[in-house]
Amino acid sequence: MTAINRRRALTGSAAIAVGVPVLAACSSGDEPSTDASSSTSPSPSDESPSSPSADGTETPSAGGSALASVADVPVGGCFVVASAKVVVTQPTEGDFKAFSAVCTHQGCLVESSTEGEIPCPCHLSRFSLEDGSPVSGPASAPLAAVQITVDGDEITQA
Ligand code: FES
Repeated sequence: MTAINRRRALTGSAAIAVGVPVLAACSSGDEPSTDASSSTSPSPSDESPSSPSADGTETPSAGGSALASVADVPVGGCFVVASAKVVVTQPTEGDFKAFSAVCTHQGCLVESSTEGEIPCPCHLSRFSLEDGSPVSGPASAPLAAVQITVDGDEITQA
């Protein structure tokens, strides 16, 4: 009788000893995940339907999406539109250019700046406001050009 009780007790202990780590393993769902389903990046090409022009003029490419106001973009600097992954620059007053805001080194988004170049915060690459070419840092390829239209105060992706 005591042997049975001891056996049951041991069996029960074993079940508990095995069960605890299993439960712990199941409950630790907070580990860094390799879940790739969190892609929140919208496609820049089909982000919004065409918007009617305020003054009735039509741009050559219907379907462009508003990126920024000219006042958002500093002269000698750049303004990042994160939702569109586009960086708009103004190398000289009234001269606007735009590039992909995705760094060609390892894909970080570049940052807005007033310091004469387009900086990437990840590994400190810097790109030209004029043509998106790499100026310093590990990136060796230029930022891809993005076609824009400046209409009054509004900058639109073509
Ligand atoms: Fe931009 Fe590395 S990702 S410098």
